[in-house]
Amino acid sequence: MTNIVVTGASGFIASHLVDQLLLKGYNVIGIDSMRTGKKENLSDSMNNDKFQLVIADIRDDDLASHIDSDVDVIYHLAAISSVTLSIEDPRLVNDVNTRGTVNILELARESNTKRVVFSSSAAVYGDPEEMPVHEDFGFNPMSPYAASKIAAEMYIRSYSSAFDIDSTILRYFNVYGPRQAFSEYSGVVSIFTNHALANEPIKIEGDGEQTRSFVHVSDVARATLLAGELNTAIGATINISGPDLISILRLAQLMKENVQGCKSEIVHVAPRLGDVKDSIGSMERAQKLLGFTPSIPLERGLQETSEWYRTHQDTK
Ligand SMILES: NC(=O)c1ccc[n+]([C@@H]2O[C@H](COP(=O)([O-])OP(=O)(O)OC[C@H]3O[C@@H](n4cnc5c(N)ncnc54)[C@H](O)[C@@H]3O)[C@@H](O)[C@H]2O)c1
Repeated sequence: MTNIVVTGASGFIASHLVDQLLLKGYNVIGIDSMRTGKKENLSDSMNNDKFQLVIADIRDDDLASHIDSDVDVIYHLAAISSVTLSIEDPRLVNDVNTRGTVNILELARESNTKRVVFSSSAAVYGDPEEMPVHEDFGFNPMSPYAASKIAAEMYIRSYSSAFDIDSTILRYFNVYGPRQAFSEYSGVVSIFTNHALANEPIKIEGDGEQTRSFVHVSDVARATLLAGELNTAIGATINISGPDLISILRLAQLMKENVQGCKSEIVHVAPRLGDVKDSIGSMERAQKLLGFTPSIPLERGLQETSEWYRTHQDTK
């Protein structure tokens, strides 16, 4: 019987991870403060006897009091995942993303956890000179969000050395798909689609020539699950990126085409502070250590995501 904790369980990526863990028969305890997470994201999981949701804040020093069994693996995804918010409120993002990670590591010690998988971000690389980005490129934080993830990575590593807790760090690139929240702080696919569905202007920050690699949330959840299962992943830092680059302008055009009869105009606004120019990760290590390559082609994934938002206008 394997007991698993997933932090940020009612969020976008972690709720898909919970679905996949339950399908494999694990006992899963989700922790979430419900800051941005939604119970609807867990509507299937809530009916599963092997799932329990604990509403708690990872800044709470006494997290272990909510958990009454030993824990085998912790998947730590709870965070404030917005670069923009980190520029508006760096103290809050440090508190949740960095101090919150120390609390999760303390929970790991207190609950005899053997393994922690941490969701970091491609933001740690900043604006690298070469593409694709390899995991051994240096850090170049261009936002307090990136700094908070680097600090959290260092805590994860230090606990592996000092307390013998196996760990894996995953650096996600741009993740998209169903359940991604829609707000001014959300990912670009969610914002563009929702503006297209409302026939509102699709606003591109800067000239739109900046490029990104997008990876579908089901693929990201699958890679994350594998990182907690496979011994080959122990001690490793692994990129989880999409396979291809697409410009933000082309993405806006595709998202508009995916909404039938869309009357949105594509407009350009000021570039975003702390934004990187291009971003795609090398997937060699993910392939080698996890046997993972993304399986969902971007155009199909975008179409399905657009359809999901259209049919979930009340829960987005
Ligand atoms: N979405 C992406 O493209 C992307 C890219 C790189 C890295 N990441 C990382 O992946 C992880 C998941 O991201 P996501 O896109 O699913 O974000 P999300 O905002 O949907 O999920 C984060 C979850 O954490 C919860 N949370 C926030 N503060 C909390 C706190 N103090 N205590 C307990 N729970 C709290 C939220 O309520 C939410 O459910 C994050 O660590 C994020 O930094 C995401």
